[in-house]
Amino acid sequence: MNRRHSLIDDIVECLEGEAKTAKHIQLSAATLTAFFADAAVAAKVQPPEQKVLAVNDHKADYTGVNMDYADEKERIVEAEGKNCCDGLDFDQLVEKVRNCRRCRLAPTRTQVVFCDGNPKAELMFIGEGPGADEDAQGIPFVGKAGQLLTKMINAMGFQRSEVYIANIVKCRPPGNRNPEKDEAKECLPYLIRQIELVRPKVLVLLGAVPLKYLLDITGIMKARGTWLEFRGIKTMPTFHPAFLLRDPNQKKYAWEDLQQVMKVFGKTYTPPQKGG
Ligand code: URA
Repeated sequence: MNRRHSLIDDIVECLEGEAKTAKHIQLSAATLTAFFADAAVAAKVQPPEQKVLAVNDHKADYTGVNMDYADEKERIVEAEGKNCCDGLDFDQLVEKVRNCRRCRLAPTRTQVVFCDGNPKAELMFIGEGPGADEDAQGIPFVGKAGQLLTKMINAMGFQRSEVYIANIVKCRPPGNRNPEKDEAKECLPYLIRQIELVRPKVLVLLGAVPLKYLLDITGIMKARGTWLEFRGIKTMPTFHPAFLLRDPNQKKYAWEDLQQVMKVFGKTYTPPQKGG
C-alpha cells in the first residue's frame, strides 16, 4: 500500500522496534529524542496552501453553515468592486436570492423574504429584516410592525400595493435580533440591485439599521427627518414602526418625517372617511 508515512506510523515503528529488543522496557531516551526531533521538523513543514476566497476582507462567520452555494465567481466579481447582481432582471434576482447561502441566516430561515408592492413604485421603504411572521409568510412587514407601516403608508396617501417594500437582509435573524454587519454586507448586493431596478424617486429608511448599512450613518435620533441621498435618490430616515409601537410618543416625529416625503409627491393628509 503506497500511502504517506504519518507520525503515527513513526510511533508504531518505534514501538515495534523497541519491543523486539526488550519486551519490558519503555522506549529509550535516545529513540524518543530522535523521534521528537523528527516530529519537530515535520511540524515546521507548512501544510499545503488552502484555496482561499477572492475577497480576503470577507468577515462572515461560516462556522456550521452549509455553503453549497458559495460561488467563487461572485467573490471575484465583488473583489473587483462590482455587484454580483449587475445586469440581473427582477426574475433572475428573485431566483438568485431564493437560492442564496451567503451567510449564516440561510440555514435557519423558513423562506427568503424578497419584497412586497409595486416594482415600478416611486416610493420605496427599507426595513431591517424579516421577523417570525414575515419568515412564515415570505412577505415583508406583515406582523404588528407591518400593520403599523401599512397605516403609515395609507396616511401618506398611498396604497401599500403602490409602494415597494424591502429589507436590509432577506432572511430572518434568529430571535428577531438586528442583522449583524457581515450578514448585511452579504445581502446588500441584492438590495442595491432592487433599488436600481425599481429606481424610486424617494427612499424611506425605517430605523437605525438601514441608515447604518445603506449610508453608514450611526444614530437615527439625530438623522431622522433630514433629507439624505443614496446614489442620487432622495432618502428620508425615520423611525422603525416597531419602535413606534414601543414608544407611541415618537409617532408625531415620524409623521413629520413622512409629511416631508408627501410634499415631494404633492400629497396632503386626508383623514379616512367614516364608514368607508
Ligand atoms: N421589521 C422589519 O424591519 N422588516 C420586516 O419585514 C418586518 C419587521
